[in-house]
Parts: sequence; structure tokens; C-alpha cells
Amino acid sequence: MIYLADTANIEELKELFNYLPIEGVTTNPTIVKNSGKTLSKIIPEIQQYIGDKMLHVQVISQTAEEMIKEAKIYRDYFDMKSNYFVKIPVTKEGFKAIKMAKDADMKVTATAIFTQQQAMFAANAGADYVAPYVNRLDNIVSHGIDVVSDIVKTFQINNSKCQVLAASFKNLDQVYRVSMVGCQAMTASHEVLMSIVNHPMTDKSVLDFESDSEGVYDINLTQQ
Ligand code: E4P
Repeated sequence: MIYLADTANIEELKELFNYLPIEGVTTNPTIVKNSGKTLSKIIPEIQQYIGDKMLHVQVISQTAEEMIKEAKIYRDYFDMKSNYFVKIPVTKEGFKAIKMAKDADMKVTATAIFTQQQAMFAANAGADYVAPYVNRLDNIVSHGIDVVSDIVKTFQINNSKCQVLAASFKNLDQVYRVSMVGCQAMTASHEVLMSIVNHPMTDKSVLDFESDSEGVYDINLTQQ
């Protein structure tokens, strides 16, 4: 399973991309709003940090034709290459737009997925990724991980090329459980991703090793 950053905060992206094996960035209108910058300002800043890693940008138009027009405008405006994925919500118009995007040779992440059947439709329409929302499902007393697991199994049974990009996480337990059901990718906030790194037992072990090394690690590390 690969990890993506679900944030457009540049300070957070700097830390994540400098230190961790992060394969791309996912955005949506809320994430752009929370960055405190407009889309035209924030996307070029993100591009500087991620190079040719994946960049998922969501469209806001309501009709399929407008969604595709919007996706193409972003592609040209930001000079995006093959790492660009247009995020299309799975409304009725969205399913049509997914088919149109594939005909236009654009990569698609079908987003706002809450059921296995939405994922099937999106995959059959040609989506490269489907993004089921784990925490939002958990919040409505549904079972986010079970939905992801069903989607993964369905794609395997059908030999689908579509991959599962699990999204919407609030804690590490959700991340752990989603990683065990075979989904290919996940995207999470800086806070959730950093909670994978920060572990008090690791910190304590490192402190103990450091103290035990005194007087016995005698090779001069300042030599060239
Ligand atoms: C990603 O595709 C989604 O837009 C995002 O992960 C939703 O996460 P949230 O439920 O934390 O807002």
C-alpha cells in the first residue's frame, strides 16, 4: 500500500516529503480552503514539492461536460503532466464524466465513494482509482474498513485494473486496518501520517541506545 498526503498545507507537505515515503498529494475544495490560499496559488506551490509524484485535483462543476472542461482547464493552466489525476465525485453526472475523461485520455480518481456498488460503477466507467471514505462511513455507524475490503475483493474477483485509494482517516487504527485488507493506496492528513512515525517506545529505545553507546562506540565519526 502506498501513502499519499491529504493536505495542501505547504509546511506539512515539506515535512512529509522530506522525511517520509509519500507518493503524492490529494486535494479537494475543503483542503484547498484550509490551506488559506486559492487554487491558482496553492497548486503551483504543491507542484514544486512533489515533482512528478501524483497530484489529485477535484472538479467542482455539476455536469459531465463542465467537469471535463474544468479538468482540462486545470491540466493546461497548471501545465500538469501524466501525474495529474482529476478527482470526480460519483454523482450521476460524475459517472458520465469518468467515461468522458477516459475518452480524453485523462487519469481519474472517482471520489466520495460510500458503497461497493459506487466503486464498481466507477471502475467499469474507467476510473484509475476509487476513493472510499473510511472515517465518514464510520461516523454514520457504518463500517468503513468493510466497505474498502468489499471493494478490494470485488476488483480482484473481476480482474479490475482500477485501484483502491482509501481516504478519510482520523486515527491510526483505521490506517492499520485498511492496510490489512489489500487496498493499493491510502491518503491521510499530516497529523495521521505523523502518528505512524511518532511512537513513545521508539523514542525511549533510541534514548536507551544512545545512553548505552557512551564509552563503547569509540570510532571517531568526525573523520572524513
Ligand atoms: C480524499 O479524497 C477525500 O477528499 C478526503 O480524504 C476526505 O477526508 P475527510 O473525511 O477527513 O474530510
